[in-house]
Amino acid sequence: MSARKGWNIISRSYQEKTRISIADVHYGPISPGESELKLLGDVKGKDVLELGCGGGQNTIVLAKWGARSVGVDISEEQIKYARKLAQENNVDVSFYTGNMEDLSMFTQESFDLALSSCALGYSQDLKQVFDEVLRVLRKGGFFVFCVVHPIAYRGRKVRYGNRRMWGLGNYFDRRRRTWTWKINGKTATFYGHHRTFQDYFNPLVSAGFVAERILEPEPYPLHRMTEAERQKIPYFEEGYSKDYDVWRRIPYTLLFKARKP
Ligand SMILES: C[S@@+](CC[C@H](N)C(=O)[O-])C[C@H]1O[C@@H](n2cnc3c(N)ncnc32)[C@H](O)[C@@H]1O
Repeated sequence: MSARKGWNIISRSYQEKTRISIADVHYGPISPGESELKLLGDVKGKDVLELGCGGGQNTIVLAKWGARSVGVDISEEQIKYARKLAQENNVDVSFYTGNMEDLSMFTQESFDLALSSCALGYSQDLKQVFDEVLRVLRKGGFFVFCVVHPIAYRGRKVRYGNRRMWGLGNYFDRRRRTWTWKINGKTATFYGHHRTFQDYFNPLVSAGFVAERILEPEPYPLHRMTEAERQKIPYFEEGYSKDYDVWRRIPYTLLFKARKP
């Protein structure tokens, strides 16, 4: 099932089940957001593009912070949700339905900043995404993106020979697999690309970006937080709290800040 089809099926359930802030840019589940990590700089008056914008929450936040912001997502249902959310919040943003591997609707050097949160993992051709983002960014512009960390979902009880212990599965196994997401009664099957750290870093640099920072943020200390404090987490879903014993040991988010020279 393509990412487009899968996300069209689960969009509504995902948006119902997940609490995504429209007050702070998020970098994945239970991870600190932009207000803490400060990777984007002042976005006021800047042209900003979000790739795989989903329900548009980050695109909306950027507009609220003064950017001219544009979101692109491959799923019509996600874009429909994003447009409605922007309208309800009286925020002026543009949303496009499209594939992040083909940004031909934008001329070269039309953005100061590009952002993507938890979406590049779905792309089939990462190098093509980086080439396209480089093309549409102005010189000196930044590309800030987070992906699901290559060891996330690999930290589980694992059998090594005769022993079962905490650890990783096979980090080097890049075979394309399908995985199924069941969420609030909806089921979608996706092709999964397991990519290692170098699989993200090398095409980024060979596209022409200069990698400035790499971050593996520690999640919020959920076990010490009050409900009121949890409400302020930029991206929250109850499952991460149930499995917190794993998620406090395994980084969920891998973040890159790269610059077009
Ligand atoms: C986990 S969601 C993240 C959405 C949003 N960034 C957020 O954090 O809520 C992944 C999103 O990537 C989108 N997506 C997947 N493949 C894509 C592609 N090739 N081009 C554009 N969007 C894509 C999906 O439709 C989905 O909305």
